[in-house]
Amino acid sequence: MSEAALDARQPLTFPLERRSPLEPAGAYHRLRAEQPISRVSLPTGQLAWLVTRHADVRALLADNRLSSDRTHPDFPLRAPVEQQLRKGFGDIGKALIGLDLPEHSAPRRMVVNEFTVRRINELRPRIQEIVDERVDAMLAAGPGADLATDLAMQVPANVISELLGVPLDKRDFFQERTQVLARPNSTPEQQLDAADELRVFMDELVTLKERQPSEDLLGRLITRNRETGVFDHELLVGMAQLLLIAGHETTSNMIALGAIGLLLRPEAVAALQAEPSLVVSSIEEMLRYYPIFDVMARLARADIEIGGVTIRAGDGVMLSLGSSNRDEAGFADADTFDVRRGNRHHVSFGYGIHQCLGQNLARMELEIVFSTLLRRIPTLRLAVDVEDLPFRVAASINGVYHLPVTW
Ligand code: HEM
Repeated sequence: MSEAALDARQPLTFPLERRSPLEPAGAYHRLRAEQPISRVSLPTGQLAWLVTRHADVRALLADNRLSSDRTHPDFPLRAPVEQQLRKGFGDIGKALIGLDLPEHSAPRRMVVNEFTVRRINELRPRIQEIVDERVDAMLAAGPGADLATDLAMQVPANVISELLGVPLDKRDFFQERTQVLARPNSTPEQQLDAADELRVFMDELVTLKERQPSEDLLGRLITRNRETGVFDHELLVGMAQLLLIAGHETTSNMIALGAIGLLLRPEAVAALQAEPSLVVSSIEEMLRYYPIFDVMARLARADIEIGGVTIRAGDGVMLSLGSSNRDEAGFADADTFDVRRGNRHHVSFGYGIHQCLGQNLARMELEIVFSTLLRRIPTLRLAVDVEDLPFRVAASINGVYHLPVTW
């Protein structure tokens, strides 16, 4: 980054340049040191603030003067296509992730019990079965597999189907549509069509469960809803869609990035094989080191003074998770990947009222996937050079489309 680019009057171009899709933008180091809250110009032409220090990002994620209302015309967008895609996803924003206080509290309270450690632990045996089935299929067809499509995309889709109570005979339809949303060559039109079909699907699923009570997440929400009236039918459909979208591509890409992180470091793999209990802390390190979201966007609802800067009401704010997770002030030796670190103060699951609802589930999926892979395919390795992997960098979620491996 040039000296001129650090001129406070000159907005930086967002997204900042990255030398490698596995590393955050090189400029973050200097920004954290010299200009931790900077002006950026977004691909939509909007101007916004970019926040890079761990302490500031956490403070602002927890600051309810910042809004998550993505339907607001001034909400900062990472790409023009986001507006179009967002419209296609119907009521998702109204379900939870786009709500501010006080509206956010009641629906969050309604679903939070479904994601406690205890509740998620009940899913452990079934998640292990799902992972074993995928590994069996890989071993039967191998050596050689695409870890992204054969495992990383399959496991979360199956887990969400299980969680929401998608009937077995509907799972293929459900999975095909979710894959269209995740595939690299899907056009925005195809994604919008798939999103619409999934909305209709979820609508029918909720209607079915309203008629026939069931012992799954949606069934329980419907029962509780009859007592409290927090969700109407439309909001339940929106919640089901949100859980699908929030829980699927996120976890898939995290599995893939975590696998790359490990496979690039034979010494880390050896340490985990010698001491399998380290898998739990290695998951935190994968999350910290390879966050799937580089930034969380927000819109200021009031003036906010922070770090000598005044963010004005109406300003867009981009909170960099990628930069925070590498801030030496939050993590000693931050640029070293250390499976023993076990620090859970990273912000890869966000922070504040919107902190990831599904984090216990995501952690468990990751833990089961990596323990199983390390045990059942101990010689797993990348089948191509890391530079040749098809990374998804322009998309809002970091990850890979394919991950050829062998053993
Ligand atoms: C490694 C996987 C995952 C990562 C890195 C991740 C990350 C995040 C982040 C950063 C947020 C905060 C969004 C914001 O502040 O605007 C979030 C929210 C959320 N996540 Fe996750 N997520 C993951 C997996 C899951 C799973 C498995 C589920 C559920 C099945 C889930 C459900 C949600 C929901 C419902 C929200 C919105 C919470 C609210 O607004 O109150 N996530 N996630």
